[in-house]
Amino acid sequence: HLPKSVIIKEVGPRDGLQNEKAFIPTENKIEWINKLSETGLSHIEITSFVPPKWIPQLADSFEVAQGIERAEGISYSALVPNVKGLDRALDAGVDEVAVFMSASEGHNKNNINKTIDETFPLLNDVVKKGLTANKRVRGYVSTVFGCPYDGEVSIKDVIRVVDSLLEMGVYEISLGDTIGVANPLQVEEVLTELFKRFDKSHFAMHFHNTRGLALANVVASLQMGVTVFDSALGGLGGCPYAKGASGNLATDDLVYMLHSMGIQTNIDEQKLYEAAKYVESKIGRNLTSHQMLANN
Ligand code: HMG
Ligand code: MG
Repeated sequence: HLPKSVIIKEVGPRDGLQNEKAFIPTENKIEWINKLSETGLSHIEITSFVPPKWIPQLADSFEVAQGIERAEGISYSALVPNVKGLDRALDAGVDEVAVFMSASEGHNKNNINKTIDETFPLLNDVVKKGLTANKRVRGYVSTVFGCPYDGEVSIKDVIRVVDSLLEMGVYEISLGDTIGVANPLQVEEVLTELFKRFDKSHFAMHFHNTRGLALANVVASLQMGVTVFDSALGGLGGCPYAKGASGNLATDDLVYMLHSMGIQTNIDEQKLYEAAKYVESKIGRNLTSHQMLANN
């Protein structure tokens, strides 16, 4: 049977905007996040504190984090690659941070310029320092279902990275289908293996919709008992260091499906639509979610 309610973590301002060709002006990012804050979302990933050389689209992370209006009950989070990024995020006053690495060597090397073994001690320092500062720390594992450089990824490699991140003290692991190659049967198989070793409550799913299977993969995850999902409004998103990565699972499509299935999200669909229209008018192209195609 399916859960009665689900938590949606909006990653559009980070995963969505990092993959836009154009730099969205800071005040538009802030305005968009303020509109997202009115939708009922409880968690918004607002930016990342990585070198602007790596992600120029989010070079204004400090100004964004400082400029938004903080709504009660919402955790405003940021992606951080190292202690330097963490320190900037803490100075900017984020509520929560997320560290990230990959289950595959190829993507880890291309995305964060290190081997997996070199990454562990660096992230351990970030997690420990984040926890000392009384922040919740989340962990992303990318390429869980396939890697753009290495192809198939073994469950052993996924387990090793998940285990290390949980040991460090992250409260949640977001399992990334970075290039959108997962299918529902694979989701069931991977989660079955993980849930033999780790408690279900530690996991969130982060699907990209490259091949149109993100919602099907959500249903498979719901059936396995997962209740936390990452998505980006309008289907924005992708990792610039993963060839073939395209839009995230669209928040509006996810909300529509969950509500039709009688699963609560606490999100107001009309407010979500208004926030989507706003960002659409700023990115200079139409959003690609099914909800936006149906409503425009
Ligand atoms: P590097 O170039 O090897 O770093 O990058 P470095 O430590 O050698 O430093 C190089 C320069 O950057 C130095 O400056 C540092 O001070 C500076 P210089 O001496 O040359 O003047 N620097 C910084 N500046 C500002 N903020 C910082 C920072 N750190 C160093 N935090 C690094 C290594 C990990 C930093 C880099 O590779 C990186 O940031 N990569 C991240 C790329 C990225 O953001 N990818 C997309 C996000 S991940 C994703 O989308 C997947 C996800 O959605 C899940 C999924 O879908 O699977 C999460
Ligand atoms: Mg992603």
